[in-house]
Amino acid sequence: QPEAAVPKLLHSLSKRFLGPISSPLPGPPSLPFLGNMLDLAQEHLPIHLTSLAQRYGNIYRLNFGNTTMVVLNSSEIIREALIKKWSDFAGRPYSYTGDIVSGGGRTISLGDFSEEWKAQRRVAHRALQRCTMDSLHSVIEKQAHHLCQVLRDYNEKAVDLSEDFTVAASNVITTLTLGKSYDKRADQLQKLHDCLNKTVSLWGSPWISALDSFPLLRILPNPPFSRLLKEVGRRDKLIGKHIEEFKTLTDTHVHMTTVDLLIGGTETTASLLNWTVAFLLHRPEVQNEVYKELCGVLDVRYPKYSDRDRLPYLCALINEMLRLRPVAPLAVPHRAIRNSSIAGHFIPKNTLIIPNLYGAHHDPEVWEDPYSFKPERFLEGGGGSVRALIPFGGGARLCLGEAVAKMEMFLFTAYLLRDFQFLPASKEEPLPDLRGVASVVLKVKPYTVIAHPREQ
Ligand code: HEM
Repeated sequence: QPEAAVPKLLHSLSKRFLGPISSPLPGPPSLPFLGNMLDLAQEHLPIHLTSLAQRYGNIYRLNFGNTTMVVLNSSEIIREALIKKWSDFAGRPYSYTGDIVSGGGRTISLGDFSEEWKAQRRVAHRALQRCTMDSLHSVIEKQAHHLCQVLRDYNEKAVDLSEDFTVAASNVITTLTLGKSYDKRADQLQKLHDCLNKTVSLWGSPWISALDSFPLLRILPNPPFSRLLKEVGRRDKLIGKHIEEFKTLTDTHVHMTTVDLLIGGTETTASLLNWTVAFLLHRPEVQNEVYKELCGVLDVRYPKYSDRDRLPYLCALINEMLRLRPVAPLAVPHRAIRNSSIAGHFIPKNTLIIPNLYGAHHDPEVWEDPYSFKPERFLEGGGGSVRALIPFGGGARLCLGEAVAKMEMFLFTAYLLRDFQFLPASKEEPLPDLRGVASVVLKVKPYTVIAHPREQ
Protein backbone atom coordinates (compact mmCIF):
# COMPACT_ATOMS: atom_id res chain seq x y z
CA GLN A 1 0.00 0.00 0.00
CA PRO A 2 1.36 3.42 -0.96
CA GLU A 3 0.47 4.95 2.48
CA ALA A 4 2.59 2.42 4.32
CA ALA A 5 5.53 3.24 2.06
CA VAL A 6 5.57 6.88 3.20
CA PRO A 7 6.61 6.30 6.83
CA LYS A 8 9.17 3.75 5.65
CA LEU A 9 10.61 6.21 3.17
CA LEU A 10 10.66 8.97 5.77
CA HIS A 11 12.42 6.68 8.19
CA SER A 12 15.13 5.73 5.72
CA LEU A 13 15.53 9.35 4.56
CA SER A 14 15.82 10.61 8.11
CA LYS A 15 18.36 7.86 8.81
CA ARG A 16 20.33 9.00 5.79
CA PHE A 17 20.20 12.72 6.51
CA LEU A 18 20.05 12.79 10.28
CA GLY A 19 22.39 9.92 11.08
CA PRO A 20 21.38 6.77 12.96
CA ILE A 21 18.20 7.26 14.97
CA SER A 22 19.42 6.82 18.49
CA SER A 23 17.67 5.87 21.67
CA PRO A 24 15.53 8.59 23.26
CA LEU A 25 17.48 11.37 24.89
CA PRO A 26 18.35 10.73 28.52
CA GLY A 27 17.18 13.09 31.21
CA PRO A 28 16.02 13.28 34.82
CA PRO A 29 12.64 11.67 35.65
CA SER A 30 9.74 13.83 34.58
CA LEU A 31 6.88 14.16 37.12
CA PRO A 32 3.22 14.01 36.04
CA PHE A 33 1.93 17.56 35.28
CA LEU A 34 5.09 19.21 36.62
CA GLY A 35 7.55 17.58 34.23
CA ASN A 36 11.02 18.81 35.23
CA MET A 37 9.76 22.08 36.67
CA LEU A 38 11.64 21.45 39.93
CA ASP A 39 14.92 21.22 38.00
CA LEU A 40 14.15 24.42 36.14
CA ALA A 41 13.20 26.31 39.30
CA GLN A 42 16.63 25.79 40.90
CA GLU A 43 18.16 28.95 42.30
CA HIS A 44 21.35 28.80 40.20
CA LEU A 45 20.10 27.18 37.00
CA PRO A 46 23.43 27.09 35.06
CA ILE A 47 25.15 25.26 37.95
CA HIS A 48 22.22 22.86 38.30
CA LEU A 49 22.09 22.10 34.56
CA THR A 50 25.86 21.53 34.60
CA SER A 51 25.54 19.06 37.48
CA LEU A 52 22.81 17.19 35.55
CA ALA A 53 25.26 16.83 32.65
CA GLN A 54 27.51 14.78 34.93
CA ARG A 55 24.63 12.31 35.42
CA TYR A 56 22.97 12.35 31.99
CA GLY A 57 25.76 13.34 29.61
CA ASN A 58 26.48 16.39 27.49
CA ILE A 59 23.10 16.31 25.80
CA TYR A 60 19.90 15.56 27.70
CA ARG A 61 16.24 16.54 27.72
CA LEU A 62 13.92 18.26 30.17
CA ASN A 63 10.16 18.69 29.97
CA PHE A 64 8.26 21.75 31.08
CA GLY A 65 4.51 22.09 30.52
CA ASN A 66 4.01 20.95 26.94
CA THR A 67 7.55 21.87 25.87
CA THR A 68 10.55 19.58 25.41
CA MET A 69 13.91 21.22 25.92
CA VAL A 70 17.27 19.82 24.97
CA VAL A 71 20.20 21.07 27.02
CA LEU A 72 23.64 21.15 25.34
CA ASN A 73 26.60 21.16 27.70
CA SER A 74 29.80 20.93 25.72
CA SER A 75 31.45 23.36 23.40
CA GLU A 76 31.61 20.78 20.61
CA ILE A 77 27.90 19.93 20.76
CA ILE A 78 26.91 23.60 21.06
CA ARG A 79 29.01 24.37 17.98
CA GLU A 80 27.40 21.54 16.06
CA ALA A 81 23.93 22.96 16.71
CA LEU A 82 24.58 26.71 16.59
CA ILE A 83 27.28 26.91 13.90
CA LYS A 84 27.38 23.76 11.75
CA LYS A 85 23.60 23.36 11.64
CA TRP A 86 22.79 27.03 12.18
CA SER A 87 19.93 27.02 9.70
CA ASP A 88 18.15 24.24 11.62
CA PHE A 89 18.41 25.90 15.03
CA ALA A 90 18.25 29.64 14.33
CA GLY A 91 14.68 30.02 15.57
CA ARG A 92 13.50 31.46 18.86
CA PRO A 93 10.65 29.86 20.76
CA TYR A 94 7.42 31.80 21.08
CA SER A 95 6.54 32.68 24.64
CA TYR A 96 3.64 34.68 25.98
CA THR A 97 5.83 36.94 28.11
CA GLY A 98 8.66 37.14 25.54
CA ASP A 99 6.10 38.43 23.06
CA ILE A 100 5.10 41.19 25.48
CA VAL A 101 8.64 42.38 26.25
CA SER A 102 9.71 42.27 22.60
CA GLY A 103 6.83 44.29 21.13
CA GLY A 104 5.41 41.17 19.42
CA GLY A 105 8.74 39.43 18.68
CA ARG A 106 10.26 42.49 17.02
CA THR A 107 13.55 42.58 18.92
CA ILE A 108 16.56 40.92 17.29
CA SER A 109 17.22 38.79 20.34
CA LEU A 110 13.69 37.38 20.72
CA GLY A 111 12.41 37.66 17.14
CA ASP A 112 11.97 34.33 15.35
CA PHE A 113 14.01 33.50 12.24
CA SER A 114 12.32 35.10 9.20
CA GLU A 115 13.14 37.32 6.22
CA GLU A 116 12.05 40.35 8.22
CA TRP A 117 14.28 39.35 11.15
CA LYS A 118 17.27 38.76 8.85
CA ALA A 119 16.88 42.25 7.38
CA GLN A 120 16.58 43.79 10.84
CA ARG A 121 19.71 42.01 12.10
CA ARG A 122 21.64 42.91 8.94
CA VAL A 123 20.84 46.62 9.29
CA ALA A 124 21.75 46.67 12.98
CA HIS A 125 24.93 44.71 12.30
CA ARG A 126 26.03 47.12 9.57
CA ALA A 127 25.27 50.14 11.74
CA LEU A 128 27.29 48.68 14.62
CA GLN A 129 30.15 47.78 12.28
CA ARG A 130 30.22 51.34 10.97
CA CYS A 131 30.28 52.76 14.50
CA THR A 132 33.01 50.29 15.46
CA MET A 133 35.19 51.49 12.61
CA ASP A 134 34.43 55.19 12.96
CA SER A 135 34.24 55.99 16.61
CA LEU A 136 33.95 53.05 19.01
CA HIS A 137 37.54 53.24 20.22
CA SER A 138 37.36 56.89 21.13
CA VAL A 139 33.89 56.48 22.69
CA ILE A 140 35.20 53.71 24.98
CA GLU A 141 38.42 55.61 25.77
CA LYS A 142 36.38 58.60 26.87
CA GLN A 143 34.21 56.46 29.13
CA ALA A 144 37.25 54.61 30.52
CA HIS A 145 38.91 57.92 31.48
CA HIS A 146 35.67 59.09 33.04
CA LEU A 147 35.32 55.82 34.98
CA CYS A 148 38.88 56.15 36.34
CA GLN A 149 38.11 59.72 37.45
CA VAL A 150 34.96 58.56 39.28
CA LEU A 151 37.01 55.91 41.09
CA ARG A 152 39.71 58.45 41.98
CA ASP A 153 37.01 60.71 43.44
CA TYR A 154 36.06 57.96 45.90
CA ASN A 155 39.38 58.67 47.64
CA GLU A 156 39.91 55.05 48.62
CA LYS A 157 36.54 54.70 50.32
CA ALA A 158 35.15 51.13 50.25
CA VAL A 159 32.33 51.24 47.70
CA ASP A 160 30.17 49.02 45.50
CA LEU A 161 31.31 49.78 41.93
CA SER A 162 28.52 47.93 40.10
CA GLU A 163 26.58 51.07 39.25
CA ASP A 164 29.68 52.85 37.96
CA PHE A 165 30.42 49.90 35.66
CA THR A 166 26.82 49.99 34.45
CA VAL A 167 27.04 53.72 33.72
CA ALA A 168 30.31 53.24 31.78
CA ALA A 169 29.04 50.33 29.65
CA SER A 170 25.69 51.95 29.13
CA ASN A 171 27.23 55.24 28.03
CA VAL A 172 29.15 53.46 25.30
CA ILE A 173 25.91 52.04 23.92
CA THR A 174 23.79 55.16 24.35
CA THR A 175 26.51 57.22 22.63
CA LEU A 176 26.44 54.76 19.72
CA THR A 177 22.66 54.43 19.48
CA LEU A 178 21.29 57.75 20.75
CA GLY A 179 24.31 60.02 20.56
CA LYS A 180 24.11 60.70 24.30
CA SER A 181 25.73 59.67 27.55
CA TYR A 182 24.59 60.22 31.09
CA ASP A 183 25.86 60.98 34.51
CA LYS A 184 24.93 58.69 37.38
CA ARG A 185 23.91 61.59 39.58
CA ALA A 186 21.51 63.54 37.45
CA ASP A 187 20.11 62.58 34.14
CA GLN A 188 17.06 61.38 32.31
CA LEU A 189 18.86 58.41 30.74
CA GLN A 190 19.25 56.99 34.20
CA LYS A 191 15.49 56.50 34.30
CA LEU A 192 15.69 54.52 31.10
CA HIS A 193 18.39 52.23 32.45
CA ASP A 194 16.62 51.73 35.70
CA CYS A 195 13.56 50.71 33.73
CA LEU A 196 15.48 48.35 31.38
CA ASN A 197 17.11 46.67 34.36
CA LYS A 198 13.80 46.13 36.09
CA THR A 199 12.29 44.75 32.88
CA VAL A 200 15.09 42.19 32.46
CA SER A 201 15.09 41.06 36.08
CA LEU A 202 11.28 40.82 36.29
CA TRP A 203 11.16 38.86 33.04
CA GLY A 204 13.71 36.40 34.49
CA SER A 205 11.60 35.80 37.61
CA PRO A 206 9.90 32.38 38.00
CA TRP A 207 6.55 34.09 38.78
CA ILE A 208 6.58 35.44 35.27
CA SER A 209 8.13 32.56 33.31
CA ALA A 210 5.49 30.21 34.81
CA LEU A 211 2.90 32.15 32.75
CA ASP A 212 4.52 30.85 29.55
CA SER A 213 3.96 27.20 30.33
CA PHE A 214 0.79 27.36 32.42
CA PRO A 215 -1.69 29.60 30.58
CA LEU A 216 -4.30 29.11 33.30
CA LEU A 217 -2.14 31.14 35.68
CA ARG A 218 -2.66 34.19 33.43
CA ILE A 219 -6.15 34.73 34.84
CA LEU A 220 -4.89 34.97 38.42
CA PRO A 221 -3.61 38.23 39.92
CA ASN A 222 0.18 38.37 39.54
CA PRO A 223 1.82 41.53 40.98
CA PRO A 224 5.29 40.92 39.43
CA PHE A 225 3.62 40.53 36.01
CA SER A 226 1.66 43.78 36.50
CA ARG A 227 4.95 45.47 37.38
CA LEU A 228 6.55 44.03 34.22
CA LEU A 229 3.72 45.41 32.06
CA LYS A 230 4.16 48.81 33.69
CA GLU A 231 7.94 48.78 33.09
CA VAL A 232 7.51 47.75 29.43
CA GLY A 233 5.09 50.67 28.94
CA ARG A 234 7.53 53.02 30.66
CA ARG A 235 10.45 51.70 28.60
CA ASP A 236 8.62 52.25 25.32
CA LYS A 237 7.64 55.79 26.26
CA LEU A 238 11.22 56.68 27.24
CA ILE A 239 12.83 55.13 24.16
CA GLY A 240 10.12 56.61 21.94
CA LYS A 241 11.02 60.06 23.24
CA HIS A 242 14.70 59.59 22.39
CA ILE A 243 14.09 58.12 18.97
CA GLU A 244 11.56 60.75 17.96
CA GLU A 245 14.41 63.19 17.75
CA PHE A 246 15.69 61.24 14.74
CA LYS A 247 12.88 62.10 12.37
CA THR A 248 13.62 59.34 9.89
CA LEU A 249 13.86 56.54 12.41
CA THR A 250 10.50 55.92 13.91
CA ASP A 251 9.35 52.44 13.07
CA THR A 252 8.89 49.63 15.56
CA HIS A 253 11.90 47.63 14.43
CA VAL A 254 14.27 50.53 14.96
CA HIS A 255 12.66 51.10 18.33
CA MET A 256 13.07 47.47 19.34
CA THR A 257 16.63 47.28 17.97
CA THR A 258 17.50 50.16 20.26
CA VAL A 259 15.99 48.19 23.17
CA ASP A 260 18.13 45.20 22.13
CA LEU A 261 21.39 47.09 22.01
CA LEU A 262 20.75 48.88 25.28
CA ILE A 263 19.75 45.72 27.14
CA GLY A 264 22.31 43.46 25.44
CA GLY A 265 25.11 45.95 25.78
CA THR A 266 24.84 47.26 29.31
CA GLU A 267 24.45 44.66 32.03
CA THR A 268 26.61 42.12 30.19
CA THR A 269 29.82 44.16 29.99
CA ALA A 270 29.18 45.82 33.36
CA SER A 271 28.70 42.45 35.08
CA LEU A 272 31.86 41.06 33.57
CA LEU A 273 33.86 44.05 34.90
CA ASN A 274 32.31 43.55 38.32
CA TRP A 275 33.17 39.82 38.23
CA THR A 276 36.75 40.64 37.20
CA VAL A 277 37.32 42.88 40.23
CA ALA A 278 35.69 40.28 42.52
CA PHE A 279 38.00 37.49 41.27
CA LEU A 280 41.06 39.76 41.46
CA LEU A 281 40.39 40.33 45.16
CA HIS A 282 40.75 36.59 45.60
CA ARG A 283 44.03 36.44 43.66
CA PRO A 284 45.74 39.84 44.09
CA GLU A 285 48.95 38.63 42.43
CA VAL A 286 47.07 38.49 39.10
CA GLN A 287 46.38 42.22 39.09
CA ASN A 288 50.02 42.90 39.91
CA GLU A 289 51.10 40.74 36.95
CA VAL A 290 48.76 42.64 34.60
CA TYR A 291 50.02 45.96 35.98
CA LYS A 292 53.64 44.91 35.46
CA GLU A 293 52.83 43.86 31.92
CA LEU A 294 51.07 47.17 31.17
CA CYS A 295 53.98 49.23 32.55
CA GLY A 296 56.56 47.11 30.72
CA VAL A 297 54.86 47.33 27.34
CA LEU A 298 53.31 50.79 27.39
CA ASP A 299 55.48 52.70 29.83
CA VAL A 300 53.17 55.53 30.90
CA ARG A 301 50.72 55.79 28.02
CA TYR A 302 47.20 54.35 28.08
CA PRO A 303 46.61 51.20 26.02
CA LYS A 304 44.98 51.02 22.60
CA TYR A 305 43.06 48.01 21.36
CA SER A 306 45.82 47.45 18.81
CA ASP A 307 48.22 46.74 21.72
CA ARG A 308 46.40 43.52 22.58
CA ASP A 309 48.90 41.16 20.96
CA ARG A 310 51.59 42.62 23.17
CA LEU A 311 49.56 42.17 26.35
CA PRO A 312 49.02 38.40 26.64
CA TYR A 313 48.47 38.33 30.40
CA LEU A 314 45.70 40.93 30.22
CA CYS A 315 44.05 38.99 27.36
CA ALA A 316 44.41 35.77 29.35
CA LEU A 317 42.63 37.41 32.29
CA ILE A 318 39.74 38.53 30.06
CA ASN A 319 39.45 35.07 28.46
CA GLU A 320 39.41 33.43 31.87
CA MET A 321 36.62 35.75 33.01
CA LEU A 322 34.59 35.00 29.87
CA ARG A 323 35.13 31.29 30.55
CA LEU A 324 34.33 31.25 34.27
CA ARG A 325 31.45 33.70 34.20
CA PRO A 326 29.87 33.80 30.73
CA VAL A 327 27.45 36.57 31.60
CA ALA A 328 24.68 35.09 29.44
CA PRO A 329 25.22 31.59 30.89
CA LEU A 330 22.38 29.87 29.03
CA ALA A 331 22.55 32.17 25.98
CA VAL A 332 18.98 32.78 24.75
CA PRO A 333 16.86 29.67 24.01
CA HIS A 334 16.91 28.52 20.37
CA ARG A 335 14.15 26.66 18.53
CA ALA A 336 14.59 23.90 15.97
CA ILE A 337 12.91 25.27 12.85
CA ARG A 338 12.89 21.83 11.20
CA ASN A 339 13.59 18.20 12.11
CA SER A 340 17.32 17.77 12.63
CA SER A 341 19.84 15.99 14.83
CA ILE A 342 22.47 16.85 17.40
CA ALA A 343 25.25 14.45 18.40
CA GLY A 344 23.40 11.71 16.54
CA HIS A 345 20.12 12.26 18.43
CA PHE A 346 16.99 13.04 16.47
CA ILE A 347 15.67 16.51 17.35
CA PRO A 348 12.12 17.19 16.16
CA LYS A 349 11.01 20.56 14.81
CA ASN A 350 10.04 23.06 17.53
CA THR A 351 12.25 21.51 20.20
CA LEU A 352 13.66 24.18 22.47
CA ILE A 353 17.46 24.17 22.61
CA ILE A 354 19.32 25.50 25.64
CA PRO A 355 23.03 26.09 24.98
CA ASN A 356 24.54 25.75 28.46
CA LEU A 357 27.60 27.96 27.91
CA TYR A 358 28.42 27.84 31.61
CA GLY A 359 28.49 24.02 31.43
CA ALA A 360 30.65 24.03 28.29
CA HIS A 361 33.14 26.32 30.04
CA HIS A 362 33.36 23.95 33.03
CA ASP A 363 33.59 20.72 31.02
CA PRO A 364 36.26 18.61 32.77
CA GLU A 365 37.02 16.87 29.45
CA VAL A 366 38.26 20.16 28.04
CA TRP A 367 39.42 22.26 30.99
CA GLU A 368 41.88 21.19 33.61
CA ASP A 369 40.65 22.15 37.07
CA PRO A 370 37.63 23.88 35.47
CA TYR A 371 36.33 25.64 38.59
CA SER A 372 39.63 27.41 39.42
CA PHE A 373 40.42 30.97 38.41
CA LYS A 374 43.65 30.57 36.43
CA PRO A 375 44.26 33.17 33.71
CA GLU A 376 47.64 31.46 33.12
CA ARG A 377 45.83 28.61 31.37
CA PHE A 378 45.43 30.96 28.37
CA LEU A 379 49.14 31.83 28.18
CA GLU A 380 51.30 29.93 25.72
CA GLY A 381 51.71 26.35 26.92
CA GLY A 382 49.04 26.81 29.63
CA GLY A 383 46.70 24.25 28.10
CA GLY A 384 43.61 26.49 27.80
CA SER A 385 41.91 26.45 24.42
CA VAL A 386 40.49 29.74 23.13
CA ARG A 387 38.61 27.65 20.53
CA ALA A 388 36.61 25.94 23.26
CA LEU A 389 35.41 29.33 24.57
CA ILE A 390 31.92 30.14 23.39
CA PRO A 391 30.69 33.04 25.59
CA PHE A 392 28.99 34.86 22.68
CA GLY A 393 27.18 31.83 21.21
CA GLY A 394 27.67 31.36 17.48
CA GLY A 395 26.13 31.04 14.03
CA ALA A 396 23.08 32.99 12.93
CA ARG A 397 22.41 34.12 16.49
CA LEU A 398 25.97 35.04 17.42
CA CYS A 399 25.94 37.95 19.87
CA LEU A 400 25.53 41.08 17.78
CA GLY A 401 27.75 43.06 20.13
CA GLU A 402 30.72 40.66 20.27
CA ALA A 403 33.18 43.10 18.70
CA VAL A 404 31.91 45.99 20.84
CA ALA A 405 32.08 43.88 24.01
CA LYS A 406 35.61 42.65 23.29
CA MET A 407 36.95 46.16 22.76
CA GLU A 408 35.12 47.41 25.86
CA MET A 409 36.41 44.59 28.04
CA PHE A 410 39.95 45.13 26.85
CA LEU A 411 40.05 48.91 27.27
CA PHE A 412 38.05 49.15 30.50
CA THR A 413 40.03 46.36 32.19
CA ALA A 414 43.35 47.79 30.99
CA TYR A 415 42.53 51.33 32.16
CA LEU A 416 41.26 50.12 35.54
CA LEU A 417 44.29 47.91 36.23
CA ARG A 418 46.73 50.54 34.98
CA ASP A 419 45.34 53.20 37.31
CA PHE A 420 44.23 51.20 40.38
CA GLN A 421 45.03 48.39 42.70
CA PHE A 422 41.81 46.84 43.98
CA LEU A 423 41.88 46.03 47.68
CA PRO A 424 39.38 44.27 49.98
CA ALA A 425 37.06 46.66 51.84
CA SER A 426 38.45 45.52 55.21
CA LYS A 427 40.26 42.62 56.84
CA GLU A 428 37.15 41.62 58.77
CA GLU A 429 34.77 41.37 55.82
CA PRO A 430 34.76 38.16 53.77
CA LEU A 431 35.97 38.39 50.18
CA PRO A 432 33.21 38.58 47.50
CA ASP A 433 31.04 35.50 47.09
CA LEU A 434 31.99 34.05 43.69
CA ARG A 435 28.92 31.84 43.10
CA GLY A 436 26.79 34.69 41.84
CA VAL A 437 23.12 35.12 41.11
CA ALA A 438 21.89 33.63 37.85
CA SER A 439 18.99 35.08 35.95
CA VAL A 440 19.12 36.11 32.30
CA VAL A 441 22.49 37.66 33.21
CA LEU A 442 24.91 35.99 35.64
CA LYS A 443 25.80 38.64 38.23
CA VAL A 444 28.08 38.76 41.24
CA LYS A 445 26.40 39.41 44.61
CA PRO A 446 26.94 43.03 45.79
CA TYR A 447 30.31 43.66 47.45
CA THR A 448 32.44 46.66 48.29
CA VAL A 449 36.04 47.31 47.28
CA ILE A 450 38.73 49.98 47.67
CA ALA A 451 40.22 51.40 44.46
CA HIS A 452 43.73 52.44 45.51
CA PRO A 453 45.34 54.71 42.87
CA ARG A 454 48.65 53.40 41.50
CA GLU A 455 51.63 55.74 41.52
CA GLN A 456 52.29 56.61 37.88
C1 HEM B 1 22.93 37.78 22.05
C2 HEM B 1 26.71 37.16 25.09
C3 HEM B 1 27.57 41.95 24.98
C4 HEM B 1 23.90 42.54 21.88
C5 HEM B 1 23.87 37.22 22.90
C6 HEM B 1 23.95 35.82 23.22
C7 HEM B 1 25.00 35.64 24.05
C8 HEM B 1 25.60 36.94 24.28
C9 HEM B 1 25.48 34.33 24.65
C10 HEM B 1 22.95 34.74 22.74
C11 HEM B 1 23.47 34.00 21.56
C12 HEM B 1 22.52 32.89 21.15
O1 HEM B 1 21.31 33.04 21.22
O2 HEM B 1 23.02 31.82 20.75
C13 HEM B 1 27.24 38.41 25.35
C14 HEM B 1 28.38 38.65 26.22
C15 HEM B 1 28.61 39.99 26.21
C16 HEM B 1 27.64 40.60 25.32
C17 HEM B 1 29.15 37.57 26.99
C18 HEM B 1 29.66 40.82 26.93
C19 HEM B 1 30.67 40.37 27.57
C20 HEM B 1 26.72 42.50 24.08
C21 HEM B 1 26.77 43.86 23.62
C22 HEM B 1 25.71 44.04 22.76
C23 HEM B 1 25.01 42.77 22.65
C24 HEM B 1 27.83 44.89 24.04
C25 HEM B 1 25.29 45.27 21.99
C26 HEM B 1 26.05 46.21 21.58
C27 HEM B 1 23.30 41.31 21.67
C28 HEM B 1 22.14 41.08 20.83
C29 HEM B 1 21.87 39.70 20.86
C30 HEM B 1 22.88 39.12 21.75
C31 HEM B 1 21.37 42.13 20.04
C32 HEM B 1 20.77 38.94 20.13
C33 HEM B 1 21.33 38.30 18.86
C34 HEM B 1 20.31 37.47 18.09
O3 HEM B 1 19.36 36.94 18.67
O4 HEM B 1 20.47 37.34 16.86
N1 HEM B 1 24.90 37.88 23.55
N2 HEM B 1 26.83 39.61 24.83
N3 HEM B 1 25.66 41.86 23.47
N4 HEM B 1 23.72 40.11 22.21
FE1 HEM B 1 25.33 39.84 23.42
